[in-house]
Amino acid sequence: MGGQGVAGVVVLAAGEGKRMKSRTSKVLHQVAGRSMISHAVHAADALMPERLVVVVGHEREQVESHLAEVAPHVVTAVQENQNGTGDAVRCGLAPLRDAEGEIVVTMGDVPLLTGETLVRLLDVHRANGDAVTILTSVLDDPFGYGRIVREDDGDQVAAIVEQRDCTPEQAEICEINAGIYVFEAGVLRAGLESLTSNNDQGELYLTDVVKYARSVGKSVHTCVLDDQAQTEGVNDRVQLARLNKEYNRRLVEKWQREGVTVIDPDTTWLHASVDLAPDVTLLPGTSLEGATSVSSGAVIGPDTTLIDVEVGENAHVVRTHGSLAVIGTGASVGPFAYLRPGTVLGAGGKIGTFVETKNAQIGAGAKVPHLTYCGDAEIGEGANIGAGTIFANYDGVLKSKTSIGRHSFVGSNTVLVAPVEVADGAYVAAGSALTDTVGPGELAIARGRQRNIPGWVESRRAGTKTHRAAVEASNNEGTTQP
Ligand code: UD1
Ligand code: CA
Repeated sequence: MGGQGVAGVVVLAAGEGKRMKSRTSKVLHQVAGRSMISHAVHAADALMPERLVVVVGHEREQVESHLAEVAPHVVTAVQENQNGTGDAVRCGLAPLRDAEGEIVVTMGDVPLLTGETLVRLLDVHRANGDAVTILTSVLDDPFGYGRIVREDDGDQVAAIVEQRDCTPEQAEICEINAGIYVFEAGVLRAGLESLTSNNDQGELYLTDVVKYARSVGKSVHTCVLDDQAQTEGVNDRVQLARLNKEYNRRLVEKWQREGVTVIDPDTTWLHASVDLAPDVTLLPGTSLEGATSVSSGAVIGPDTTLIDVEVGENAHVVRTHGSLAVIGTGASVGPFAYLRPGTVLGAGGKIGTFVETKNAQIGAGAKVPHLTYCGDAEIGEGANIGAGTIFANYDGVLKSKTSIGRHSFVGSNTVLVAPVEVADGAYVAAGSALTDTVGPGELAIARGRQRNIPGWVESRRAGTKTHRAAVEASNNEGTTQP
């Protein structure tokens, strides 16, 4: 309940992320098709902050331009030198100078953290009337994390002690600081003022604000999170892959609960942005990315990747790679189809085996069933494109368009040399190289006529097996025919 309207959220994302060994800022690496910083902003949005500040430093231009694109409501603050989390929050408070009330601090590299968890943290903060509430988790192996050290009464938190500053007794504590907090703004500001770099790393520790709050008699509690993956950070690519997999597992499970059949969750990969209807079936090896949406009754896979593709009701898409395409209701695609941007397949239409399409509007019930390149084309409803047809759309300089009318029939192995137009209700003979318009009701034949040369095998290939077969065939003809 509640959870609305904090004064500010500060997301820390200035760190270098050395262990990623990447030219790309750590927080721009993706989980389920969305950058980690975008996940962080998304979660923070659940708190409905008056201001959402992301602290940037390393590779800040990259992060800033990405945020301008995916989260224009975010304000950035620059931390020039990475002088610790306390210093980072100081920088983050610059745009929140006048903020009063609650300030939430979170991190840019914990992609599984949900908005619900932040709202729960805030609810605990409000219920306890705390000055500081810390999101914590109890780990079997707490090594590396800041430990939650409690006061003798076991209730209030006395301090957070970093691994490298721990006494042997403190190192035994299994409750760890997840690095996500709600602060009362005034206490946070005064606490940050009081920080010194008197610790093993010589940095300003945000965590020391806890000690400050207790020293001025303010209350500090924790909110323990059972779901440990939510507070796990990404430091290297091994953790990135692990958390991506875990995110995917959760996402697949969410869609299963919404009525999607997923035969093999382990080999089904979904972006956070896809939209699936109940009674969709996903077969093994399916990857749905970007703004892909799939309507009810559709079956996708196996071994299919769709990026920004809209799939209609009851469509079947088998062993296909597609991007920026629309597949109509009840249409059928694949196996082994390649749909490139601008492909629009009408209801009940077919794009079959070893077919590549690009910028092609294929009408309702039209069929492109086998071995075809179909680029810059408009195909009317009910038309049939024979096996091996090539839409020759490119002359080396210009791309041109081909249009095929309603219920027309293009024979196998035709080359349609664009620009060219076949009207409604027309035929093109197999093997044609079409360069001119075909009118309604016409049959176009654009190839050499067949000519047979009797006796050619006998005169040019005498003594071969072919010759013998020919002789036998004519003898048989002799005996069977009266
Ligand atoms: C921090 C906490 C530790 C906690 C752990 C949880 C402190 C002193 N310690 O430790 O108690 O258990 O997180 O993961 O806060 N950052 C900046 N600027 C800086 C330093 C860090 O923006 O100058 C950002 C980093 O990009 C990162 C976050 O702050 O997103 C945490 O920094 P990191 O150095 O990883 O802190 P830890 O040592 O892991
Ligand atoms: Ca860390």
